[in-house]
Amino acid sequence: MKNKKKKIAILFGGCSSEYEVSLQSAYAVITHMDLEKYEAILIGIDPKGVWYLYQGDPVNIPGDHWQTKEECIPVVVSPDKELHGILLLKESGVEKISLDGALPVLHGRNGEDGTVQGVLELAEIPLIGCNTMSSAICMDKETAHRLAKDCGVKVPSSFLIDKIDSQQERKIMSYGEQLGYPLFVKPLRAGSSFGITKVGRQEELLDAVDHAFAYDSIVILEEMIEGFEVGCAILGTETLTVGAVDEIELSEGFFDYTEKYTLKSSNIHVPARISQEKAQEIQETAMRIYRGLGCSYFARVDLFLTPEGEIYFNEVNTIPGFTSHSRYPNMLKEVGISFAEIIERLLEM
Ligand SMILES: Nc1ncnc2c1ncn2[C@@H]1O[C@H](COP(=O)(O)OP(=O)(O)O)[C@@H](O)[C@H]1O
Ligand SMILES: [Mg+2]
Repeated sequence: MKNKKKKIAILFGGCSSEYEVSLQSAYAVITHMDLEKYEAILIGIDPKGVWYLYQGDPVNIPGDHWQTKEECIPVVVSPDKELHGILLLKESGVEKISLDGALPVLHGRNGEDGTVQGVLELAEIPLIGCNTMSSAICMDKETAHRLAKDCGVKVPSSFLIDKIDSQQERKIMSYGEQLGYPLFVKPLRAGSSFGITKVGRQEELLDAVDHAFAYDSIVILEEMIEGFEVGCAILGTETLTVGAVDEIELSEGFFDYTEKYTLKSSNIHVPARISQEKAQEIQETAMRIYRGLGCSYFARVDLFLTPEGEIYFNEVNTIPGFTSHSRYPNMLKEVGISFAEIIERLLEM
């Protein structure tokens, strides 16, 4: 009976500024898996990008105590399609393990951006989550905006900058003038609000651009959309299940890293305090974007709702936060789908 269990790799950690967040998400996913049906193969990626098979207790993951010599064996994904699995690099030699699926619970660069997905697809390990192309598209805020626009959804006006020098400075200032203040400066491909500044005055623009360049080689300047941010959890590939729309209530600034993980001065309302008709319109828009950007299995689509009731696209998170108090599971809980059921449905798919 024992070896009938499907072997599912759970990838956690990652060479990304969101390493810590991934540890929390992955722990929640692992502890909600049905271990009667599945065997969790835990693959930890350290902040330097070194991969290990972790054989210890999952309880050591969220506090970042999983990296021990005794419990970690270096591992690589084999590109060999016949194995569709991993190679353990043991001192005694190489050991092969075939996998039935892999669920990357990695946030941000080198994990949510299509790179890891590409490795898994090449190895023909069934990938649980958005594929390589869709992950890469959703990570790139400008490309995602363009495709959302093609789906008939409004997007904020924006400009891209690929370097900052004295020649560029004038151009950057003119972009700022065209967008108006306040505006948002962001690294093109990041997450958890890393490198993002809400710029209130022209004098602060260049410093904000400089700061964003610490996170990516391309920076995007974006018009600020009035109103508030709403999210929509989507589960499925052919048939889609949509969670209740949630709403982020801010009392100041924007939804930055601290607010996202402490909710000190902000509040998340599930369901959002909006009419049923508006919620339905948001859900339909989110599904259109999900399909338009080629998403599968799961993703959280974030939008803005203006005081005039207009819906603007913000971004798609192809691996949203997955702790039991995260937005994605909470939106699905509101429509009667528990955390364990989300995981079960993903693994069944
Ligand atoms: N164009 C915008 N208008 C208004 N608020 C914005 C805009 N862009 C970003 N924000 C604020 O900044 C936060 C982080 O931006 P976002 O693009 O979602 O980056 P991340 O991928 O890091 O989550 C959003 O949750 C929102 O509060
Ligand atoms: Mg966001």
